Amino acid sequence: MQIAMVQDKIVPFEDLAPVYLDRGTFFGDGVYEVLRSYDGHIFALEDHLKRFARSLNETNITGVDIDDIRTKVVEAFEKAKIDNAKIYFHITRGSGVRDHTSITNIKPNFFLTVTTLEDATEQKTNGIKVSTFPDWRWKRCDIKSLNLLANVLAKFDAQKKGCSEAILVNDNDQITEGSSSAFFAVIQSKLVTHPLGKDILPSITRKIVLEIARDTDLEVLEKTITPAQAKNADELFIAVTTRDIVPVVEFDGQMTGDGTPGKYTKQLMQKFAEMVKRF
Ligand code: PDD
Repeated sequence: MQIAMVQDKIVPFEDLAPVYLDRGTFFGDGVYEVLRSYDGHIFALEDHLKRFARSLNETNITGVDIDDIRTKVVEAFEKAKIDNAKIYFHITRGSGVRDHTSITNIKPNFFLTVTTLEDATEQKTNGIKVSTFPDWRWKRCDIKSLNLLANVLAKFDAQKKGCSEAILVNDNDQITEGSSSAFFAVIQSKLVTHPLGKDILPSITRKIVLEIARDTDLEVLEKTITPAQAKNADELFIAVTTRDIVPVVEFDGQMTGDGTPGKYTKQLMQKFAEMVKRF
């Protein structure tokens, strides 16, 4: 008799609900997106759908209609009636017996939540502390995959050190990005961030920050920096959908600038807020 055990209950294998056989759980075999709304409007929906379509394509997950995903996201968001919402969704390749390549007759599983976005005012006003952690991730960090164990372990380490974000450092002593954010430094009036490629997620907030920076006197440099350079930077910040720009005021225990959010960071935050109002 083929059986399974769920918590402490034995059930015949044939009776298992498909959710227990999700390849997302077995293999992290799926891709996801996180969006937000500002004052009742979903922000950058098309950018997120485009990135999602790319993640599906790069992982050969087929049978997903992006127009259908758009409809689902909008429908759920309207139903939830949360003005400042966090919208999470993922697709896994499907459910089936745990076999790496056995995927005939399975169809993708979709899951979505709309929840209230955490208030980031305190972090945005006073800035956050960050600490470094080795970038243990795989070599396709441009795909927004459900495999987030390395990110989770990095974030736990930061939390243990009293920090809000882990900044990932690769084997060449270069900063790639945050465990769940893009990372920026301001060094001598230059805005520096890791170039796009397979080492980092093509962050949508990162893209917007670089667009906004064109309206400032900051020169943009897409190049890597080391933790030592970050420690001596004039300003640091992270960027992520859920919190847009958050100033960093301490890096590996060392104060950044004068320990308060920097002037360029504040300028970019201001421009971001204005752009959100217009949108
Ligand atoms: N994380 N880099 C990584 C590794 C991320 O996980 C994220 C977002 C970002 C920022 O991307 P964007 O600007 O498109 O949100 C960069 C999401 C929010 C998460 O995993 O919860």
